[in-house]
Amino acid sequence: MTETVFVTGSTGATGQEVVRRLVELGATVRAGYHSEANAEKARQLGAEPVQVDLGDVESIQAALGGIDKAYSLSPVHPDLGQYGVNFVTAAKRAGVKHIVRLSAVGADAPEAITVGRWHREAEKALEESGIPYTIVRPNIFMQNYFNLTGNTIKDQNAFYFPQGEGEIAIVDVRDLASVIVTALTEEGHEGKAYDVTGPEAISNYQAADTLSKVTGRDIQYVDLPGDVARQAMIDAGMPEVISEAIVELGDAVKAGHTSAISTAVQQVTGRPPITFEKFAEDHMSHFV
Ligand SMILES: NC(=O)c1ccc[n+]([C@@H]2O[C@H](COP(=O)([O-])OP(=O)(O)OC[C@H]3O[C@@H](n4cnc5c(N)ncnc54)[C@H](OP(=O)(O)O)[C@@H]3O)[C@@H](O)[C@H]2O)c1
Repeated sequence: MTETVFVTGSTGATGQEVVRRLVELGATVRAGYHSEANAEKARQLGAEPVQVDLGDVESIQAALGGIDKAYSLSPVHPDLGQYGVNFVTAAKRAGVKHIVRLSAVGADAPEAITVGRWHREAEKALEESGIPYTIVRPNIFMQNYFNLTGNTIKDQNAFYFPQGEGEIAIVDVRDLASVIVTALTEEGHEGKAYDVTGPEAISNYQAADTLSKVTGRDIQYVDLPGDVARQAMIDAGMPEVISEAIVELGDAVKAGHTSAISTAVQQVTGRPPITFEKFAEDHMSHFV
């Protein structure tokens, strides 16, 4: 592959995996990072690191100079939508030829929750920009079980979410990255939007059973009341609007809005999506 690809959030959950795969395919990759502390981490991925602030269009435009294709994401932040709009403005000025945009399942639904509406703002800017694009709308990530709850699983044999018994067609970030990289490197994905899910919809209680089976320990899911979860997140320093949005996501899970299974992973990559049990087996070291 001779093109140059820019990856936003290259040290985050999806970005790392996307950079790794693009480098393996022989692409020239420019790895965007935000915190200075992540410069070395971005370099170690085998890519050219470049510091970017999604709040600053000029900084994005500078990072996109000479770039053919780009992977765009926004962190979960009150400016998520505006960050996506800024990326589109900068990409247009820089002449980027294709953007794959990370969104979230349900962003296009009439009953979209707050984070979904923020995502839709960014999606719309991209759709109206004239830049060829692909939108990927993943369900909740399997990797959250170690990125968000790995410490309590290790220390307390428990994890906490305000999601009741709701079922989630949870997706492995490795499958999501495969879809993203395929859309970036192969023809036929322009103008498309993919809902990306795993092969099964499971509740957190079922996830706890699988984690218990794989680790040989008794790991419990604790269903937190929304108010308790909200206060705990605020006490931990999270902005109120984000803690509210996460409780709202929990309500959407309880209402069944995250249980639909899609065929996108098979359709785009030609391989079946990874099961939660396989994910847990492959990531044992994160839970022990
Ligand atoms: N987790 C899930 O279950 C899930 C499910 C569906 C959709 N999503 C969507 O996934 C997206 C997050 O993607 P992710 O999980 O790959 O990322 P992530 O692991 O949450 O990391 C966020 C990334 O954004 C970078 N970043 C933060 N502020 C920035 C700024 N001002 N300018 C430039 N970069 C900045 C961070 O860089 P530094 O670390 O250097 O600051 C980091 O690399 C969100 O939009 C979320 O809605 C997540």
